[in-house]
Amino acid sequence: MTASLTDLLFDDDYDGSIDPLELFPHWLEEAREHEPNDPNAMAVASVDNTGMPDLRMVLLNGYSHEGFVFFTNFESAKGRELLAQPKAALLFHWKSLRRQVRVRGPVQQVARTEADAYFASRPAESRIGAHASDQSRPLESRSVLVKRVEALTEKFTDGKIGRPAHWSGFRVRPLQIEFWKDGAFRLHDRVLFTRPDLASDWSRTRLFP
Ligand SMILES: Cc1cc2nc3c(=O)[nH]c(=O)nc-3n(C[C@H](O)[C@H](O)[C@H](O)COP(=O)(O)O)c2cc1C
Repeated sequence: MTASLTDLLFDDDYDGSIDPLELFPHWLEEAREHEPNDPNAMAVASVDNTGMPDLRMVLLNGYSHEGFVFFTNFESAKGRELLAQPKAALLFHWKSLRRQVRVRGPVQQVARTEADAYFASRPAESRIGAHASDQSRPLESRSVLVKRVEALTEKFTDGKIGRPAHWSGFRVRPLQIEFWKDGAFRLHDRVLFTRPDLASDWSRTRLFP
């Protein structure tokens, strides 16, 4: 049987190269097989204009060698923070697998066409929700939101619910990716990949747990 990329990752005798961007989808796939809910859920960290960290869950909606994509309201707290300081950290924690992946890097906005395509793929109710929600701003009562949704549902009877200008995606472009797996007695395995810039090759380092 050939060794899996994960076996090679934690094998100290293996001195060949491993591309973390090739490895990540394997871990995500294994999470899809084991996690009861949202295997693509990840925490996204940003900082506000005082340098205070902020953190929340989102869903990973796109993944390629270019980076990790999620969609949101650009006028939300995270939207404003990431537009002002376009750097983020991501965290995946798959409890059933006892694994985590950490990612850090600069953030860019996805192309308009990419955002349009994903928005169009969402159910009408979710598209209306994106129009109705002033995400992260004060809401007087739930009924205000419900009424907005009702009014928008009436307005969009033809089903043509275009993407709001403030709703789009961010792509986190990794400069660091760490793979962590649980070990007995807290002697976990950690392997960190880093590269100084997006065009450079990755370096691989095992870390103390
Ligand atoms: C599992 C999970 C997935 C979520 N996915 C998203 C998402 O993809 N996009 C989003 O804007 N909010 C998502 N949320 C809600 C965010 O965690 C957060 O409440 C919201 O985006 C406002 O965050 P902010 O005030 O920091 O901008 C998700 C929450 C959970 C628990």
